Amino acid sequence: MADSGFDPEAWLASLTTRRIGRRPLWVGQVDSTNRLALKLAAEGAPEGTVVIADSQTAGRGRLRRAWQSPPGCNLYLSLLLRPAIAPAAAAPLTLVAGVAVAETVLSFCPEGVSLKWPNDVLIRGCKVAGILAEAKADAGVLAAIVVGIGLNVNIARDDFAPDHRDLATSLREETGTIQDRGEVAARLCERFETAYNRFLTEGFAPLRSRWLEFTDMVGRPVRVRFGEVLQGGTVAGIDLDGALLLCQADGSLLRVTAGDATVVKPGEGR
Ligand code: BTN
Repeated sequence: MADSGFDPEAWLASLTTRRIGRRPLWVGQVDSTNRLALKLAAEGAPEGTVVIADSQTAGRGRLRRAWQSPPGCNLYLSLLLRPAIAPAAAAPLTLVAGVAVAETVLSFCPEGVSLKWPNDVLIRGCKVAGILAEAKADAGVLAAIVVGIGLNVNIARDDFAPDHRDLATSLREETGTIQDRGEVAARLCERFETAYNRFLTEGFAPLRSRWLEFTDMVGRPVRVRFGEVLQGGTVAGIDLDGALLLCQADGSLLRVTAGDATVVKPGEGR
């Protein structure tokens, strides 16, 4: 990687995790670290394998969007997990990862870090990271889940695509300092392992509490778009599956499991 290079021995010596990140695969360029991690999973790679790329030619975002992945500046990382849980129970993992990414970002940038459902990490309202979890199940059994994380580390605002410039940010833009991507990746693995172990032993409830501490969505009116479907309401919270709970005008709660949420500004109507 352009800023500090990657030395596997130094990486493993500095990493304090037991499993996550202990099988690192750093590649220069790849189509998608998620796709490569899913391939490694199919070939039997163990939990804790992490794929990190300097750049991606076909980085995948949520809802079939592309993830801008230029070389030499950001973190494109996929974690391979093999939790012994049912496929349906894995749904909150993307929010668990959100907590870990938010904690990591907070350790570099102590002000203005927030989470936007389902999995955007923001600094002062601009997106600094996104998460895409992709699962592989065989005959109803969860074989593997890949948690892909894109984190804008050193990219300059002018290098974002023009339509993202006002909506995205990076650690460098927010702190004024070029960060070592290897160190960011190591901290991310450590925080992810802490959150993941807690999820496996205590369930999603404690992570949900932490997730809610990071968000400013609760009590605010939102619109959620999923394809052609538009749903709205006032955010009441998230449930133990990670679904967004929207309070309707008649007082009922609507569960939303997927989509893009936008906070409705005063005067915009719902
Ligand atoms: C989002 O839409 O916010 C999720 C973006 C996830 C991007 C990351 S970059 C590393 C991993 N590999 C991919 O192809 N996608 C994820």
